[in-house]
Amino acid sequence: MADIPHIALNDGRTMPQLGLGVLQMPARETEPLVCTAIDLGYPAVDTAMIYGNEGEVGRAIRSADRPIFVTTKLWIPDMGPGTVAAFGASMDRLGLDHVDLYLIHWPAPARGDYVDTWRTLVRLAQDDSRLRSIGVSNFRIEDLRAIIDATGVVPAVNQIELHPRFQQRALRDFHAEHGIATTSWSPLGRGSLLDDPVLVDVAARHGKSPAQIVIRWHVQSGLVVIPKSANQARLAENIDVFDFALDDADMARIAILDRSDGRSGPDPAHFSGMI
Ligand code: A2P
Repeated sequence: MADIPHIALNDGRTMPQLGLGVLQMPARETEPLVCTAIDLGYPAVDTAMIYGNEGEVGRAIRSADRPIFVTTKLWIPDMGPGTVAAFGASMDRLGLDHVDLYLIHWPAPARGDYVDTWRTLVRLAQDDSRLRSIGVSNFRIEDLRAIIDATGVVPAVNQIELHPRFQQRALRDFHAEHGIATTSWSPLGRGSLLDDPVLVDVAARHGKSPAQIVIRWHVQSGLVVIPKSANQARLAENIDVFDFALDDADMARIAILDRSDGRSGPDPAHFSGMI
């Protein structure tokens, strides 16, 4: 079983650099897939209230023979006054004694309540021993500035869309300046970039798949990466990235795949939860 590196968080804790994402994983398939992932050595699982599978994730983690780092997220309508109750409901569904990381899922700036919500999370993390680290997801630089200025508390993590076609350099520079860890969601660009000729070529040179090259690129870039797969062979493939390294030339070739129109998911400036 591979030894997965951890990264340091700004609150003194650490987080595994690779985990399983379970977005759009149907609830009835989630428990066996998470169990398989845990057997394969995955040290972390990333879920959310809105994925509708916290219960199944929790059951799989409860049956694990070792601690698994679990992340879940606060959905948009639960922000503001509903935050504490929503956290309690997530804990009930997970059935775990703690959650390692709790994130505000989207800033939804038109609501005007992400600063208050962050204040509540800060208090919750101080008062509720079931909550370890707190962070955000899909926050832009201006959103991060607003919550840090209001509370003085820097989120441990910002989880954002990030892959070779959408590398988010300005946001990552801000994260580095403030000690915020970056988690990449849709790290494989939802599978769409895996036939890119550069990735196919780098993969052939290393005897690896394009997906393994991309996951390795995230790891070597100091990011936390949470590829999702509902397929056992690909689950095994996606964690098998610790027996080789990309060299500077490989990293430079991947760096230039970044595109200004590379976003594949919603734009946080406008996303309000309606899909
Ligand atoms: P599947 O679940 O059938 O494996 P992302 O994490 O960027 O959102 O990408 C998830 C998508 O990429 C899913 O459609 C998943 O399909 C696919 N995928 C995951 N791992 C691999 C892999 N190793 N090779 C090819 N496609 C993959």
